[in-house]
Amino acid sequence: MKFTKSLTTLLAEANNTGEGSLKRTLGSWNLVALGIGAIIGAGLFVRTAAAAGEAAGAGVTLSFVVAAIGCAFAGLCYAEFAAMIPIAGSAYTYAYTTMGEVVAWIIGWALIMEYALGAATVSIAWSEYLNKLLGGVIPYEWTHSPFESLNGVSGVVNLPALVILLLITLVLIKGTKESASLNGIIVFVKVAIVLIFIVVGWQFIKPENHTPYFIPADQPPLLDASGKVVADYSGAFKHGWGGVLGGAAIVFFAFIGFDAVSTAAQEAKNPKRDMPIGILGSLVVCTILYILFGHVLTGVAPWTDFVDPLKGREASVAYAISNYMTGYGWLATAVTVAILAGFSSVILVMLMGQSRVFFSMANDGLLPKVFSDLHPKYRTPYKSNWILFVFVGGFAAFVPGSVAGDLTSFGTLFAFVLVSAGIWILRVKSPEMERPFKTPLVPLVPILGAVICLAMIFALDAQTLKVAFGWMILGLVVYFVYSRKHSKLN
Ligand code: ALA
Repeated sequence: MKFTKSLTTLLAEANNTGEGSLKRTLGSWNLVALGIGAIIGAGLFVRTAAAAGEAAGAGVTLSFVVAAIGCAFAGLCYAEFAAMIPIAGSAYTYAYTTMGEVVAWIIGWALIMEYALGAATVSIAWSEYLNKLLGGVIPYEWTHSPFESLNGVSGVVNLPALVILLLITLVLIKGTKESASLNGIIVFVKVAIVLIFIVVGWQFIKPENHTPYFIPADQPPLLDASGKVVADYSGAFKHGWGGVLGGAAIVFFAFIGFDAVSTAAQEAKNPKRDMPIGILGSLVVCTILYILFGHVLTGVAPWTDFVDPLKGREASVAYAISNYMTGYGWLATAVTVAILAGFSSVILVMLMGQSRVFFSMANDGLLPKVFSDLHPKYRTPYKSNWILFVFVGGFAAFVPGSVAGDLTSFGTLFAFVLVSAGIWILRVKSPEMERPFKTPLVPLVPILGAVICLAMIFALDAQTLKVAFGWMILGLVVYFVYSRKHSKLN
């Protein structure tokens, strides 16, 4: 019985351009745009303020640096794989050639958390912002899950989240080229609005908001009007340098998505050159934007505002503009519209990434064939898109955003660790293999990537780890009951 797929088999499959294959339409700029499209979203526009208010203060700029370093190490490993094995399916496919079918399955299963739950998380944030733009006309019960309540009103179903998921599913079924052009426009708007906020906001920075730069160790807890503690800064990861690390775990979500570029390898025109550019290029662009954005946001408004439910705890960016940037009210509305568009492109790339991972798993026989059936005209995996809509929609409609968000981080970090390990394993096992892009300083870079990501996993809360563990066990059951028997390799 064979357990690892040979690279030759894989590449032969990838070069097959017949009926059952995806179309090669994406160039390097499309891929960088795809990456930025997946990256800038709820993480920047929601989590930056949360990280500043809860843990890092103005030092959130350094939190971005720490999270970016972890992502860069993992990203370098992704880039080597993506150039060498330019095949749809991302980390799942890489693991299949290096660590065998069981590990590949485990990664594929973890990627469902990253892409499917990531899409659900952002669609929930989309729903929040939409209602904000509409002045809160949609009643609470139709914009929240049954697990949430406010002043005795309980949520029923998150309808706007379902609507945006449906629209994007339809776009995806129509085809990647069209989706990529739409994505290009949205990426432009998103980057433009971030730049405008940085440039305009720069004049409103008050140096006193940046002093002290970190949250001081003796910072008293913040209380709401009724005397309830809203934020407590006594924990090791809630002030000073520790707070910078705590902040990094929070803003990590803002970087998730650059690896989604690797899921589109089979649609890239020149994958060997374009995949590393797509992955590392989008990561670099976003890191620079994030640091500047964090610097301006915490300079314009004091970080304490971002934990106060009566001030900037929600829609933090719009809040900072309306309250501290006199004469720029229009910008607050423009930013909200751009954020909605931006969230849409994140959802698009995540759903696309997920359907491509399913496509590969079904081609290998590990999932039923329905996941790899292509539309006769559009050549997109349309049945898979519909199934995904039902699954992701179920989470978006009935699960709180924070739960989906934490699980997204787990799935992503887990995949990063295994990809980093995979690079090292393959260098030892198959040193002769052609590597159009080489991760520098192996094994140092993969080891650092794995260690930093593992540390972030352990920084997640115990409840998240328990649910994630349950999900992984379920995955193993599915593997041994179904996939192992249907695997084409066996
Ligand atoms: N990085 C993506 C976001 O921030 C997931 O929305």
